Amino acid sequence: MDNPLTALTLEQLRTRTSAKWRRYPPDVLPLFVAEMDVTLAPSIVEAVSGAIAAGDSGYPFGTAYAEALADFADARWGWRFDTAATASVADVMRGVVAVLNLFTAPGDAVVVNSPVYHPFYRYLATMGRRVVEAPLGPDHRIDPAALDVALADAATGDRRCALLLCNPHNPTGTVHTRAELQAVGEMAAGHGARVLVDEIHAPLVYAPAEHVPYLSLGVGASAFALLSASKGWNLAGLKAAVAVAGEAALEDLARLPEEVSHGASQIGVIAHVAALRGGVPWLDRLLAALDANRTALGGLLEAALPGVRYRPPDGTYLAWLDCRELGLGEDPAAAFLERGRVALSAGPDFGSGGGGHARLNFATSPEILAEAVARMAASVG
Ligand SMILES: Cc1ncc(COP(=O)(O)O)c(C=O)c1O
Repeated sequence: MDNPLTALTLEQLRTRTSAKWRRYPPDVLPLFVAEMDVTLAPSIVEAVSGAIAAGDSGYPFGTAYAEALADFADARWGWRFDTAATASVADVMRGVVAVLNLFTAPGDAVVVNSPVYHPFYRYLATMGRRVVEAPLGPDHRIDPAALDVALADAATGDRRCALLLCNPHNPTGTVHTRAELQAVGEMAAGHGARVLVDEIHAPLVYAPAEHVPYLSLGVGASAFALLSASKGWNLAGLKAAVAVAGEAALEDLARLPEEVSHGASQIGVIAHVAALRGGVPWLDRLLAALDANRTALGGLLEAALPGVRYRPPDGTYLAWLDCRELGLGEDPAAAFLERGRVALSAGPDFGSGGGGHARLNFATSPEILAEAVARMAASVG
């Protein structure tokens, strides 16, 4: 079976003009930003090429993306949502901002589980929201006691507040269980916090772990979820995502400003629909290859960098590496970049708990992965 992670050589990848391949000079091996070193699923290539050839590049219309996503969610996770409860958004982060604007106002607090996807902090700062961290436990799972304290803090002064969940969790790859999500939802409700779940990595979960859509739970009725094909099929440059409202959140959905739904691009929608409708065999091949990489990474680290603590993730193609024993200080990624010419994401950017850590993107070929670890090892000592 074709492995989407070995379709391109390093030389071919270096001709790309996206952030992953242009942010650093060509002697740096990039394993930082969440882009994959894949060629696209055939269904996407066909649909996008066909649209370009036909000049089908006007304004997007209709609910084709929401319908494709609903069918995918039903087939993959046994969850069917009503497409009438959705809004098209430009991308997941723009959806996060729009939904938080429904739930909260400047000065209100938003709880996040740190360490967490670093743009959450930057976007919330721009929105004037107070970030309250509920650190994950050492096992990378949500710590109920810490979450309770954070929610109580967020709810002080009778202000509105929200909980921004990430499932699967970036950067640890934790896939929250049904019981965990249920308990989180009950706790949030107890503190009057509205819940918003970023499920962008949901297609990227390794069996036997299973993605549980938050809105499929009873506690999800008043929540919103943000979904997209962009991580699963490497479509970040083809803008489109979907916001889904729980059945008790339809009035909130109706308050979304009109401009929010004008951000997705026509070619983006075509690409995402083609991914969800025709790209599932490709996704399964990708998952098999990523699964092999997440295991191989453990072996590579054990052999060359036994001081690095690595817990293979249940979801995502991200490895959260605890490098504290290496003695590289707060930001090991800076040392790996300077001495080894390999770019990982800097742990401290992910908030509390990120010091001494680095995030490695293993959505690449086994050869590049091995070279990256060799470069990391050469940076130490
Ligand atoms: C958890 C999470 N949310 C959102 C995004 C960004 O998504 P988008 O490009 O659709 O805004 C990423 C990208 O890596 C992510 O990991």
